[in-house]
Amino acid sequence: MEGAWQARYGRIMLMLGIETSCDETAAAIVGDQGQGLARIRANLVFSQLAEHRPYGGIVPEIAARAHLDRLDGLIARALAEAKVDFADLDGVAATGGPGLIGGVIVGVMEAKAIALARKLPFIAVNHLEGHALSARLGDAVAFPFLLLLVSGGHCQLLAVEGVGRYRRLGTTLDDAAGEAFDKGAKLLGLGYPGGPAIERAAREGDASRLALPRPLKGRAGCDFSFAGLKTALREKVEAETAIDDRFRAAAAASLQAAIGDCLLDRTGHALDLFRERYPEGRSLVVAGGVAANQVLRARLADLAAREGFAFIAPPQYLCTDNAAMIAWAGIERLKLGLSDTLDFAPRPRWPLDPEAKAGARA
Ligand code: KG4
Ligand code: ZN
Repeated sequence: MEGAWQARYGRIMLMLGIETSCDETAAAIVGDQGQGLARIRANLVFSQLAEHRPYGGIVPEIAARAHLDRLDGLIARALAEAKVDFADLDGVAATGGPGLIGGVIVGVMEAKAIALARKLPFIAVNHLEGHALSARLGDAVAFPFLLLLVSGGHCQLLAVEGVGRYRRLGTTLDDAAGEAFDKGAKLLGLGYPGGPAIERAAREGDASRLALPRPLKGRAGCDFSFAGLKTALREKVEAETAIDDRFRAAAAASLQAAIGDCLLDRTGHALDLFRERYPEGRSLVVAGGVAANQVLRARLADLAAREGFAFIAPPQYLCTDNAAMIAWAGIERLKLGLSDTLDFAPRPRWPLDPEAKAGARA
C-alpha cells in the first residue's frame, strides 16, 4: 500500500489541513514520508475565545465571520512556517462537518478554491475522523482499536476498524463529557473552556466533599449520560452558603472524579465488547478535547494496563481542535485513493457510523 501512493505522490505526501467547524480557526501543513513517519510542518490555531466571551457562549454567525477574516492569513502563515508553497502540496483537506454550518462552509469553500486553482485533490474530512485518527499521527497505532472520543460536542465509544470504517459501541444520551466540564465550570464561575479550568481548580480540591451521582455506572452497555450530574452539582452549589475557593476546588475535584468514574465504567464495558468482537485488537485510544485532561489520561492508562491493552493518547495540542489532525486524516484518505468532488456539500450532522441509531449528538 505504501508503495502505491509513493509512486504517485513522490517521497513525501504534503497536505494542507483546514479546520473551521467550531470556534477555532486552524490551518496546518503535515508531511508523510511513509512507514509511519509523519511530520507536522506547521500547526496554527487561532482561538476565537475573545470574540465570543461577551456573549457567554459561541455565536455561530460571529464564528463564521471570524473564520472568514482569519483563514487566508492563517494559511499563508502556515505555508511560510513550513517553508513550502501551494505548488508543493499534494492535496487540500478541510473539515466537511459535523459542526456549525457557517464555519464549515467557510473552510470547505476555501479548500475547494485552492484545490480548483492548483488542480489538487480535495478531501472533505469528518471532524470526528480527524480526532479518531489523530493518535496515528504520532504513534503507529494499528487497526482495529477501541476509541473513546470525548470532546465538547461528542462523547462516543467506537471500534475503529480502518479509515472510514467505524462501529459505534456507545454514545451519550444527553450531554457530551466536555459539556459536563463546561457547564460545571460555568456554575462554579470558573470561566470557559471549562475543562482546563476544572482540572486546574481540582488540583487543590477534596474530591470526596460533594456526593455527586455516577449516571449509568454499573448498568449494561456503553452509553453515557451527564445531564443528571450537572443538575446535582447545581443543587449543591445553590445549597452552599460560602462559595469560596476551597469550595470551588472541592466541587471541581468532585465533578472531575464523577465524570472520570462514568467514562471509566463505560470504557470498561466497551473493552469487554471490543475484545470479543476484535480479538486481534490491542489498543485503547482516547481523543478529543477532554483527552487533554491529565487525571483522566492516567486513569485510562491504568484501566488499559489492567485489561492488557496498550494505551495511546495524542499529545495535548492534538487533542483539542486543530488542523494537523484534519491534514493527517486527508493524508490517510488520499493514500487509499479517497478524495471528494467539488460538489461536496458541507454536513452539519455527519455520524461516523451511519448504521448506529441516531444519538443525541453527531
Ligand atoms: O475537541 P474540542 O477542542 O472541540 C470539540 O470538537 O468539541 O473539545 C473541546 C472540549 C471543551 O468542552 C473543553 O472544556 C474540553 O474539550 N477540554 C477539557 C480539557 N481541555 C479541553 N476537558 C477536561 N480537561 C481538560 N484539560
Ligand atoms: Zn473537536
